[in-house]
Amino acid sequence: MKVLSVASEVFPLVKTGGLADVAGALPLALGAFGIETRTLLPGYPSVMKAIGKPAKRIKLPGLLGEPATLLDVEHQGLKLLVLDAPAFFDRSGGPYVDATGKDYPDNWRRFAALALAGSEIAHGAIAGWVPDLVHAHDWQGAMAPVYMRYDTRPERPSVLTIHNIAFQGQFASTIMPGLNLPPHAFSMEGIEYYGDVSYLKGGLQAATAITTVSPSYAEEILTPEFGMGLEGVIAARIDDLHGIVNGVDADIWDPQTDPMIAAPYGAATLKKRRKNREEVAKYFNLDHDDGPIFCVVSRLTWQKGMDLLVDAVDEIVQHGGKLAILGSGDLALEGALLAAASRHRGRVGMSIGYNEPLSHLMQAGSDAILIPSRFEPCGLTQLYALRYGCLPVVARTGGLNDTIIDANPAALAARVATGIQFSPVNSGGLRQALRRAFRLFDDRKLWTQLQKQGMKSDVSWSGSAARYAALYSSLVQKGI
Ligand code: ADP
Ligand code: GLC
Repeated sequence: MKVLSVASEVFPLVKTGGLADVAGALPLALGAFGIETRTLLPGYPSVMKAIGKPAKRIKLPGLLGEPATLLDVEHQGLKLLVLDAPAFFDRSGGPYVDATGKDYPDNWRRFAALALAGSEIAHGAIAGWVPDLVHAHDWQGAMAPVYMRYDTRPERPSVLTIHNIAFQGQFASTIMPGLNLPPHAFSMEGIEYYGDVSYLKGGLQAATAITTVSPSYAEEILTPEFGMGLEGVIAARIDDLHGIVNGVDADIWDPQTDPMIAAPYGAATLKKRRKNREEVAKYFNLDHDDGPIFCVVSRLTWQKGMDLLVDAVDEIVQHGGKLAILGSGDLALEGALLAAASRHRGRVGMSIGYNEPLSHLMQAGSDAILIPSRFEPCGLTQLYALRYGCLPVVARTGGLNDTIIDANPAALAARVATGIQFSPVNSGGLRQALRRAFRLFDDRKLWTQLQKQGMKSDVSWSGSAARYAALYSSLVQKGI
């Protein structure tokens, strides 16, 4: 089977969050099921630089009036179709925001163009390679099913995956004439949303099936609390909604072979973690004592509960713990955490920015990772933590709920616990979870047992890739 994946970021070429990891790892895992995925992604400058000058180029007839070429190239095992459209993607700054952090004003056009290219490929733009199905990701890919639906040529099945319903791609209706869609697409059944245009809503209406990245989040987004206004649209499509939990690339995230950590180790050689722990302490200027090192690797946002972390810093320090934070995001949260770090020198360290190698070292050298998210569609850092024997302390929500087994008495007795879950997700809940973590940490035998149980968890893609493969097959067989 041939599948076209449409994504706005793909690891290792461009990454701002978990979407990139998933878009980069799932195609490799699907290979085992006889599925050939090609991934359509924007030709941002960093991507263009990484792929060099591929010989295979397919000229598109022009996207929303701008010249565009598909570059067909293989990169680190991934088959890519890079959309070289300088008017949309050749600019400095991030994939979505400019150098000052502001959304590009033409994001609506940039990602409509990406989606339109996906629809053109579905309709045969690449001679000899017509996908059986299109798999679009998040609002940036969501218009692909929409363009496919409103095209007069025969339609192919599509899947839209929601990685985060908080980002919907909502724009003023004045963009309608620029989208090259028939006017009736601006309707309740199409992309109209309270008088605006919503890409995600349109995709949810047009895709043949909808998935989200964990079973718990699939249930949560049916409620007003988590559905962010789209709960009704999703409820109307409940028969086509699937929750499939993310996996991780077990080759990249393997403490036995990871070149980005100071000392490799496995479940049988946990003592070797010590060297990594020393390196974490050194990097963050933390005291070299036996108190647990908690780490945070995260976007610093309200979603991730980083304000709750600010409230919990004193609790960690009072109990003899240490905290290492890597992340960037809201300036107010950055400031509050920096202030905590200067208040508690030797106990709290902070690195602002994005640092992939450091994120690996922190998983390898910290004792526990804190993930107090208010909502978390799946979450990947708790999965990496499981692989690295770093105990996940997580909010009981979304994918965190589905992937971590709380160290309650029954789970401890059955030797299946892998971390700590807490609820309600507020400052008190997090502080309570920290107290539990300190108690467990005092019992070194039990702690080691938890680490080992976590390291045994299967967080690879194989089970979930099988679920995607089965879903694709059923859709292709059914047809439109
Ligand atoms: P989200 O996509 O919502 O940000 P996930 O947990 O799914 O959350 O994925 C986050 C990904 O980004 C993980 O791979 C994590 O290691 C990585 N990450 C987050 N912040 C940083 C950072 N400051 N430096 C390096 N990697 C980071
Ligand atoms: C989103 C979600 C995160 C999820 C990731 C990959 O960024 O916030 O929970 O793990 O997508 O699916």
